Amino acid sequence: MSEKKRILTGDRTTGKLHLGHYVGSLQNRVRLQDEYESFILLADIQALTTHLEHTELLEHSIYEVAMDNLSVGLDPNKITLVQQSRIPSIGELTVFYSMLVSVNSLRHNPTIKTEAANYGYNDMTYGFLGYPVSQSADITFCKANLVPVGEDQKPHMEMTRKIVRRFNELYGETLVEPEIVLPANKNCFRLPGLDGKAKMSKSLGNCIYLSEEPEDIKKKVMSMYTDPNHIRVEDPGQIEGNTVFTYLDAFCKPEYFEEFLPDYKSLDELKEHYSRGGLGDVKV
Ligand code: TRP
Repeated sequence: MSEKKRILTGDRTTGKLHLGHYVGSLQNRVRLQDEYESFILLADIQALTTHLEHTELLEHSIYEVAMDNLSVGLDPNKITLVQQSRIPSIGELTVFYSMLVSVNSLRHNPTIKTEAANYGYNDMTYGFLGYPVSQSADITFCKANLVPVGEDQKPHMEMTRKIVRRFNELYGETLVEPEIVLPANKNCFRLPGLDGKAKMSKSLGNCIYLSEEPEDIKKKVMSMYTDPNHIRVEDPGQIEGNTVFTYLDAFCKPEYFEEFLPDYKSLDELKEHYSRGGLGDVKV
């Protein structure tokens, strides 16, 4: 038996993973895979909360999501991929945990609210409303210590920790209280979509997928939302809320300038020129 501490994190199997998943969680999974015993959950039951009428998509997505995880550098000899629906104890624990969670705390969960609005639910299902409870079962069934996720999952992590404390208080020290691991770079907390909308999300159709071809990525990048008032190259441009710069904040490293854009020494210099005017979006 391994003495290492454990990680559990995962993704809904509703389609290919995108850059938002990468900066939010996958990057940390790769970084921590040697130090922790890592379980990557292919969340096919949670996928049903939004895709109950599209089960044909789920089976294929299980492979896509697994491949996307491996493609960014997770090593199948180190990590364990777990198909959620194959673990009966997740469903069982969900029932017990549901006794410890108030309906109001779910109704006020900000992530649930945002997602329900994005999907246009005005009367959401019990399963959708309660998926954070089931997610607590995902995390605790294997006694995970750490959960690398994007910032949007924070309310679910708080709920998980609450459930664990309450359960242990009532029934004796049984469950492990897990901790959230957020991206090291704050600019990666919530990667906006190509259209500048708050979040990169499949349902909003504003994603760059990890498995996309370079030419298609190029096309998408060239169509990104920038500063709508930056019409001519000479115009002074705005950095704040400019998606291209948000992505540069998330991905750019100082050493890239010498290789790709030797006219500038740093991102600050590039920003400075853009703000002053005289720098076109295409070059950025
Ligand atoms: N809700 C997560 C997402 O949408 C996916 C997920 C399901 C998850 N079970 C989990 C994440 C357990 C972390 C731990 O991305």
